[in-house]
Amino acid sequence: MKEKELIKAALSARERAYCPYSGIAVGAALLTADGKIYTGANIENAAFSPSVCAERVALFSAVHAGERNFAALALCGGKRGDVPCGLFPPCGVCRQTLSEFCSPDFEILLIQDNERYEKRTLAELFPDRFGGECL
Ligand code: THU
Repeated sequence: MKEKELIKAALSARERAYCPYSGIAVGAALLTADGKIYTGANIENAAFSPSVCAERVALFSAVHAGERNFAALALCGGKRGDVPCGLFPPCGVCRQTLSEFCSPDFEILLIQDNERYEKRTLAELFPDRFGGECL
């Protein structure tokens, strides 16, 4: 079942986080409309602001591979080396970035621990988005 596979992919992507400064490891797995999975983890930087979140690593690698249609994203985070810390919601920059490519009914699976997760739509997490139509 795709949701379980997506969650497993996010948990495993989290293991490849580069997070020496915050010690918070985040993993994301993005499902395309035609069933492919792209993963990402947060990659930090000594200058802090160039750090990139897990969701954007996954999204940008998918977009650069030519993908444009997305169905869902699974996300998990918490102290590196520990199990996921409970709901780990996407930051505002990632919500905005996802909204460029994903529709309001795009699903976000917030992984609580190795077994439980909660589902939200992008519209629930990010209503009244700023999009191209605002320009
Ligand atoms: N982080 C993510 O990867 N995704 C988010 O949506 C929130 C925060 C990362 C950035 C930083 O490396 C660490 O979590 C602590 O903020």
